[in-house]
Amino acid sequence: MKLDIAVLSGDGIGPEVTDQAIKTLNAIENRFDHKFNFQDGLVGAIAIDETGDPLPQETLDLCKNTDAVLFGSIGAPKYDNDPSAPVRPEQGLLKLRKELGLYANIRPLKAYATLLDKSPLKREIIEGTDISIYRELTGGIYFGEKKISADGNVASDLCEYSRSEIERISHLAFQAARKRKNKVTLVDKANVLESSRLWRKVVTELAASYTDVKLDFLFVDNAAMQMILNPSQFDVILTNNIFGDIISDEASVIGGSIGLLASASAGNKHAMFEPIHGSFPQATGLGIANPIAAVLSAAMLLEHFNLLEESKLINEAVEKALEYNLTTPDLNDKNPLTTDKVGDFIAHYIENAEEALEKFKNVNLGQSTVM
Ligand code: IPM
Ligand code: MN
Repeated sequence: MKLDIAVLSGDGIGPEVTDQAIKTLNAIENRFDHKFNFQDGLVGAIAIDETGDPLPQETLDLCKNTDAVLFGSIGAPKYDNDPSAPVRPEQGLLKLRKELGLYANIRPLKAYATLLDKSPLKREIIEGTDISIYRELTGGIYFGEKKISADGNVASDLCEYSRSEIERISHLAFQAARKRKNKVTLVDKANVLESSRLWRKVVTELAASYTDVKLDFLFVDNAAMQMILNPSQFDVILTNNIFGDIISDEASVIGGSIGLLASASAGNKHAMFEPIHGSFPQATGLGIANPIAAVLSAAMLLEHFNLLEESKLINEAVEKALEYNLTTPDLNDKNPLTTDKVGDFIAHYIENAEEALEKFKNVNLGQSTVM
């Protein structure tokens, strides 16, 4: 297969982790005889510095004219410390989601057997957890009308949803559940919010076409608690933009490191793949950033194009890296590998599993010079 991929590596650790995703995709190209053509675009704080715009038109055009977007991360301390800065890196990401029509944000999360003791939650609570969060991404309070009174003392953000916005993501969530454990949990606040009551109504109606999928409902406050008390009860979680943002950060604790979590954002025409972590500015250039979320985002990209064997092989390589402790300091404080070396192992494993294991297997015993 031939794919044109826009690479928007962004700020902070974005470029170094995205490099590992590209390295991984290069290994897939070699092994399976695909052709991936990568083209770089500016986004985020670096784009503001260079052009004044967090999403220059040139970048948007690039994304619209390629098959998929590989995204790194955005954000810089000078903006985080000044939430009212009129031009902000986040605007680039939000505009990209809206312009590309990426209404479905899919965030998979599982408790890897080899990492059960790395989570701050108890092993017996997280064991067996395997959740796929379907977050609506182009509507709701993020994109509703924003107002501030003339005197600057009253402000509001409108949370508005239409039936069709709810339906299109809900279909994807039900279809995903069919390939998993046949359960969808709608997370809302229907006891208080009109928009949530519409979600319940529309999703309940739509469930009639998916009688093989069990649908249940949780208020978001309760869902936040259940996520920590008993996360393995969930299969597919379906929710709106803001609840999905919050719940998915909370859920990331289960896996033991936010550096493991990938995401896909899909629409009818375009798709983008990105780690869910931020730009971690303090770590920039130190080689300590975990590249696994970026690498797994590349795996989701391949899955999107139905390259299932290829995607599975990346997942297998990641599992081996975790199993052999070939990981960055967030997961391995005794004998960590650098960002680049974790990427090397994964790419090497894809091209030649036995050889890679042979070369790297002594690293966690401290007997190798691979670092
Ligand atoms: C995310 C991020 C973004 C969001 C920010 C950077 C705008 O937190 O992708 O979850 O809130 O959607
Ligand atoms: Mn978020």
